[in-house]
Amino acid sequence: MTITWNDAAREWHLANGRTSWVLRVLENGWIGLLHAGAPLAPGPSYRHLGPASFEGYDNRVNEPVGLALPGPGIGDFRIPALVVENPDGSTVLDPRYVGHRILAGKPPLPGLLPATYVEDPAEADTLEIDVRDEPTGVEVTLSFSIFRDRPIVARSMRIANAGAARVVVRMAMSATLDLPDADWTLITLSGTWARERSVVERALVPGFQGVGSLRGGSGAEHNPFVALRRAATTEDAGEAWGVALAWSGNFLAEVDVDAHATTRLRIGIHPDAFAWPLEPGASFTTPEALLAWSGEGLGGMSDALHGLLRERMARGPWRDRPRPILLNNWEGTYFDFDHRRIVEMAKAAKAMGIELFVLDDGWFGRRDKDDRSLGDWIVDRRKLPHGLEALAAEVRGLGLQFGLWIEPEMVNADSDLFRAHPDWAIGIPGRRRTESRQQLVLDMANPAVVDHLAEAIGSVLASAPIDYVKWDWNRFITEPYSPTLPAARQDEFFLRYNLGMYDLYERLVTRFPHILFESCASGGARFDAGLLAWAPQAWTSDDTDAVERLKIQWGTSLAYPLSSMGAHVSAVPNHQTGRLAPIDFRAAVAMFGVFGYELDPTAMEAAELEAVRHQVAFYRERRDVFQYGRFLRLRSPFKGDGNEAAWMSVTADGSRGVAAHYRVLQRPMPVRNRLLLRGLDPAARYEVTAWSSFDAPLGTFERGGDELMRVGLGIEPQDPLPAGAWADGVRIVRSDFRARLFDLRRL
Ligand code: DGJ
Repeated sequence: MTITWNDAAREWHLANGRTSWVLRVLENGWIGLLHAGAPLAPGPSYRHLGPASFEGYDNRVNEPVGLALPGPGIGDFRIPALVVENPDGSTVLDPRYVGHRILAGKPPLPGLLPATYVEDPAEADTLEIDVRDEPTGVEVTLSFSIFRDRPIVARSMRIANAGAARVVVRMAMSATLDLPDADWTLITLSGTWARERSVVERALVPGFQGVGSLRGGSGAEHNPFVALRRAATTEDAGEAWGVALAWSGNFLAEVDVDAHATTRLRIGIHPDAFAWPLEPGASFTTPEALLAWSGEGLGGMSDALHGLLRERMARGPWRDRPRPILLNNWEGTYFDFDHRRIVEMAKAAKAMGIELFVLDDGWFGRRDKDDRSLGDWIVDRRKLPHGLEALAAEVRGLGLQFGLWIEPEMVNADSDLFRAHPDWAIGIPGRRRTESRQQLVLDMANPAVVDHLAEAIGSVLASAPIDYVKWDWNRFITEPYSPTLPAARQDEFFLRYNLGMYDLYERLVTRFPHILFESCASGGARFDAGLLAWAPQAWTSDDTDAVERLKIQWGTSLAYPLSSMGAHVSAVPNHQTGRLAPIDFRAAVAMFGVFGYELDPTAMEAAELEAVRHQVAFYRERRDVFQYGRFLRLRSPFKGDGNEAAWMSVTADGSRGVAAHYRVLQRPMPVRNRLLLRGLDPAARYEVTAWSSFDAPLGTFERGGDELMRVGLGIEPQDPLPAGAWADGVRIVRSDFRARLFDLRRL
């Protein structure tokens, strides 16, 4: 058991040797959080780390108070975890200990809430603590699951109305985390469409600081993940917390630093535009938050989250399977294609070594432009006269898998679906509907809409041999409202929308278990831990420019594993930036993730096609490294002038790896530059093969793991040598956009 209960001290200790959480029943019945983070020896009492009780806020001077369920109105003036409107209109919450259970394993969350799971009860233990607000009868169960081999605690909370009158949950955080000092830097992954998940850092200051989304989806602007690190924390040393929310809708991640320099972090459903009435006997469960603590830097934090999300959040047959190398026609054709053109592209793709052909937007209704036909999931016979089945069969006959784009949650005003069911599009009677990308969002809070979509999309997926689905979502929600909810329950809308979306995923994934689902929301606007439960990979960004992707993939990797990141090579000039980067540079960036192409292969020169064949062969041979390896960040594109980046990936058994160094712009007289690798066995010898293009290696040499990690690889020459000369066995290439890959094999 990783969870112990000390009856005399009334103390719990969750400990697995990698992290510890110590909680205690205070004398007044509140649940104190004495410690969270670094591993402590189980056994002794740690009650000296917290107060005995809490009778008034003056006690807090010089005495940091950690609470597991801070409620409002009772003298803890920091941000609360739970706000319930009581029958008398007040929101005071005084939750006192009732009892607890320690369970082997991890019970699932109710309904459709995505959550991490165990395959064997020995993988985790769960502590459930019941507290009660006596005057109202509001009962809360706080849940803490500690994974045996991971420095992670999963948290959620269930609020039950055991009183006699209705109450309203106004705010319910999935987790709060009280830390006894404020010497932290907050990291958020922020940006917008096409530049998602930039690493933004700020040292904590007194007051509130945080990010969130009120867009109806987790959004491209801020990710439902935050980290805290010490000033001295690096990629491989020092303390860090990573906190991810398994939820795809509105969220809040916020830190409050109080006057005594204690830190409270909270994460959960955004309390704005949210309320959940509870009749007597009813209950509400929050989504799950994952709290990873690392004493081994940001890299240790990412390792922990990557492993958990990849192995125990993702589900289904595709969880551990090699993901196919795909070619998507979107940037190659946009809406302008027909059966013949797609087959020609598929043939060319096959000749390149591609494994999966994906037909993107434009195959249904009369979708020649983005202002029409969303909702009409019937094949457009003008473009595809033989139907989807014949097209899929022909593509599959070439030896490729066949994939299809859908955007089920949307509708255009110009569609048969909208004409038949205008009330299915989100909007408020008597008010203008805000359009975006000329489309409206369907009311996924309406079960009839979800039923219809399960049928309509299910028919499409059953109509042809489809191996893969790309599930898009191209606008946010405005004028939130569902006619299916009474006026007093409209604040449930956003949450019900997300549950409706999850319901549709669940039905389709259950009906078509063989299909690999990739989530997409204009690229990366719904890249969150929750969706990974149904779609184990996500289209990372619509920005396919390799220089931009260095930042996007680096930022994304703070929380999310390589197996979840779709990354494609596209044509030049790049459609988002106009940049002209060589194709091998583009591939060297896209290879770190689930690799593919997003272009028209029939328009490529012979030399480029040849380059692609080599790239595909290179990736295929190392797919395990690129998709399921341990990803280690080496040099940040967010540091300095951003001209360089480097990262690497190593298989779980350490036998193979690939390290990559990227230099955006060439400078004359390069300064000496050595790249220190990580994650290798210092006692082992490695065969290192350097590549710049993928047709032939630049050279092979042998090095010790100790040298590679402590002295590093020479990636720039010491002196200006003539072109073609070698340093560390690596030829100098003078050009902008230079990637250098080092293939590592343990000898
Ligand atoms: C946005 C996606 O991110 C693109 O890849 C593409 O599928 C378009 N939508 C299609 O409308």
